Parts: sequence; C-alpha cells; structure tokens
Amino acid sequence: MLYLVGLGLSSEEDITVRGLKAVKKSCRVYLEHYTSILMAASQEELEKFYEKPVILADREMVETGCDEILRDADKQDVAFLVVGDPFGATTHTDLVLRAKQQGISVEVIHNASIMNAVGACGLQLYTFGQTVSMVFFTENWRPDSWYEKILENRKIGLHTLVLLDIKVKEQNYENMARGRLIYEPPRYMSISQCCEQLLEVDESKGTKAYTADTPCVAISRLGCPTQRMKSGTIKELSGYDAGEPLHSLVILGRQCHELELEYLLEFCDDRRKFKQDVLRDQEYFKPAPWVPPAEEEDE
Ligand SMILES: C[S@@+](CC[C@H](N)C(=O)[O-])C[C@H]1O[C@@H](n2cnc3c(N)ncnc32)[C@H](O)[C@@H]1O
Repeated sequence: MLYLVGLGLSSEEDITVRGLKAVKKSCRVYLEHYTSILMAASQEELEKFYEKPVILADREMVETGCDEILRDADKQDVAFLVVGDPFGATTHTDLVLRAKQQGISVEVIHNASIMNAVGACGLQLYTFGQTVSMVFFTENWRPDSWYEKILENRKIGLHTLVLLDIKVKEQNYENMARGRLIYEPPRYMSISQCCEQLLEVDESKGTKAYTADTPCVAISRLGCPTQRMKSGTIKELSGYDAGEPLHSLVILGRQCHELELEYLLEFCDDRRKFKQDVLRDQEYFKPAPWVPPAEEEDE
C-alpha cells in the first residue's frame, strides 16, 4: 500500500492517529520537501517521533524519480508524507496515478491544510475565489498570470488567498548549467515582498484589479504557537515584518460581511482607518443596481 499522509500545519504531533498508524507500519517513509515545511519540527524530530528514518523527497525525486518511492509498494507499506493535506494546494495526483498504473493500492489520510485553516483569519471560506501563487521575481522573469485571477475574484466580490513562493532546494543558473549539484540556501517569500510585487504589477497593468489601498490580511505561521495575523492595506503590509516563515496573504473581496470585518479589526493598527478602507473597497466593482425591465404596455 502507498499511504499519502497529511501532516497538518505545524508540529510532529499534528499528524492524525490514522496517519501515525500508517507511518508506524511502513517500511519506508518519505517526506515531501519542496512545496511546504513543517515549521515546528525538523527531520530529526520527526524521526525521533516516528522511531524510524525519514527520507527527504525533493522535487526531482517526486517528479522524475518516483519509481524509487513506489518500489515494492505492491508488497510492502510505503508512506509519503505531505505537510498540510496531500491534496491541499499542490496536489500529488501524479504520484497516485503512477502507483495505480503499477497496480499499487493507495490510501490517502487527510489533515488540515492552509486551504481550510485560512478561515482562522475570520473570513468565510465560502466567499473565497481562486487561490493564486506568487513566485519570486527575478531580473528577467516576472510572471503575472495570477493578476487576471485576482481581477476575476474581485469583480465578483470574492476574497483571494495568495500562497507565497518557497525555494527549499534550488540550484542557481550557473550551477544548473554546469550540472553541479550545489544548492542555494532555502528562501521563503515574505508578506512585504509579496505586497511589493503586487504593487509593481498593478502599476504596469493599470487595470486596477486592486490598489495600494485595498485591504488584506497577512497570515504568518498559521497553526504554530507563534501564529500572527495582521490586517492592513497592501501599501501598509508592504512595510510589515511578519517574522519567520511561512506566510500567506488574503486580498479582500467586496462581499466582506460585518462579522468578518469585526474579526479583522482585531488584527489592525488603526481600527477606524481599516474600517473606512474596507467600506471604500466595497464600492469597488460594485455592480450597478438592478432595474427591472419595463413592462410592456397593454395595447
Ligand atoms: C504550495 S502550498 C502547500 C500547501 C500544503 N500542502 C497544505 O495543504 O497546507 C505552500 C504555501 O502555502 C502557504 N502556507 C502553508 N502553510 C502555511 C502556514 N501554516 N501558515 C501560513 N502560510 C502557509 C505558504 O504561502 C506556503 O509557501
């Protein structure tokens, strides 16, 4: 059996009882190690907790070398651990399909994900639109396909969850070109960098999917004892120090309910100003009032 086990958001103890049982009976345990990190537990701490070795699976191993992960999984139990939920944000459907093609049974054991725990900021999950990913801009690579998705969400009043890039084991161009297996130190995008990139792209587009005054909520280390939320405009959050990773951002949509607003006010510096920013933002993309069609007059 191949077990895909969600680890939850923060510590080694966030695994479910069913997930832990699967790990205990597996002969090999892999930890997916490129889309997220378990913030409060290292590889060594996991190994101590599970009482067995944990193999780090980088992008290369999962995407091109998954035969090694699946080796003998038709005869033995193998666990593939994913921080959050195995199908939250990055899905691991490719691994599941390959296992099935090889006649290997698969069991998925779910857990909390950023995709649902984000509700902790007080915004209703029901009123979120498309989630987008913000990648690190480089000098000549500044992808902005997320912009249209934010625009679509904002036009129909929905909130946007922005997931931020992480680079856990990346080579620089020179090392990649020369085939040298030398990796850069891990990097995690911060809230302030994300907000700066948002502002840069909005300026170049001019479509005004959002502005510097659009209200947002910054979420750091969700599920950790050091979890922090901060509500403010994009401009304000571009100067905010959210501390250690991981960070996510939510850009508010027009349909901000008064209870949602009341919750967000707990996380801002200036309640009066933030309330005004939200009320002003609700006018943005507001559809024209509906006017019933004129009834046809009787002849
Ligand atoms: C590609 S997603 C992987 C999501 C994961 N599989 C899950 O289900 O939660 C990783 C990104 O989600 C966001 N994220 C994940 N966990 C987070 C947390 N606990 N607090 C804040 N942001 C988080 C960060 O932006 C991070 O770079």
